Amino acid sequence: MGEDGALLAISDLHVGHADNRAIVEALRPESPRDWLLVAGDVGDTVAQVEWALDLLSRRFATVVWAPGNHELWTPPADPVQLRGVARYRHLVDRCRGLGVLTPEDPYPVWRGPGGPALVAPLFLLYDHSWRPDGLDTPEAALAEAYRTGVVCTDEFLLHPDPYPSRAAWCADRVATTAARLAARDPALPTVLVNHFPLVRDPTRILRHPIFAQWCGTEATADWHRRFAAAAVVYGHLHIPRTTWHDGVRFEEVSVGYPREWRQRSAPAGTLRRILPAPAGTPPTAW
Ligand SMILES: [Fe+2]
Ligand SMILES: [Fe+2]
Repeated sequence: MGEDGALLAISDLHVGHADNRAIVEALRPESPRDWLLVAGDVGDTVAQVEWALDLLSRRFATVVWAPGNHELWTPPADPVQLRGVARYRHLVDRCRGLGVLTPEDPYPVWRGPGGPALVAPLFLLYDHSWRPDGLDTPEAALAEAYRTGVVCTDEFLLHPDPYPSRAAWCADRVATTAARLAARDPALPTVLVNHFPLVRDPTRILRHPIFAQWCGTEATADWHRRFAAAAVVYGHLHIPRTTWHDGVRFEEVSVGYPREWRQRSAPAGTLRRILPAPAGTPPTAW
C-alpha cells in the first residue's frame, strides 16, 4: 500500500429522509485511497446507519465513525430496542462487521500528503453546561427550555442506561477519552472527530441559544490545544462552516435535513477536505 489519499469529512446524513439517501448514494472519493470521517447523525435506526456505513465503506479506503445523538435514540419503530450503552455497543459491533472504525478502536494514523496525523473519533455527549447567563444550574436551563418550547428530542429518545443521566454518561466518556488522548504518541498532530463541537463558540449563532445545552460540554474547551489538533471535525448544529479557535481549524461538516440544505447555495453532499489542508489555509498555531 502506498500513501493514503485525502482525509475527507461529512456528518448529519440523516438518511431516514429519501432525499438524503440520494446524497449518500452520490458520495464518491476523489481517489480510492481517500479516507472518510463521518461525524454522527447518520440515521435514526440501526438499519439506516448500517445501510449508509456499508455503502461508504465500499467506496473509501477507510471510514471512521463517531456517533451522533440520533444514532443513540431508541425510536419506538426501530426493531432494535436497545438503549444507552447497550445500543452504542451494538452500533460499534455493526461497524466492526463493516470494517468501519469507531471511538472504541485504536486511533488510526493517516499517512497522506501533509501527514501523518492521529485520527481520533470521539464519543463525548453533552452535560447541560452550556447555559445562557443567569441560568446557573442544568435544572434551571432545562426548565427554561420547557417554558419556551425548545426541547431536544433526546430528552425522550436518548436513554442513558445504565447511567442515571446523559450528563453522567458524558462525564465518564470525557474522563476515559481524555486519558486515552493523553497517552497518545505526542509526536503526531491529531484530528479530533466528535459529533458535538468541542468549544462553545460555534453555538453562539443558534437560533435558539437555550438549545446549546444539548450541544456539548465545557469540559472539552481546551482539548484542541491540549491534544495538539491540526483540525477538529464536528456536526450536530446543521450550520456547515469553518471557524478558527486559538489558531485551530474547526470544520462543521453537516448535511442536515432537506429543508435546511435546499436553502443553502453550496450543493449538499460536498465532502469537506480536512487534510491536506486546503490551499491558503494558515498553519496551525499551537
Ligand atoms: Fe443532525
Ligand atoms: Fe445531532
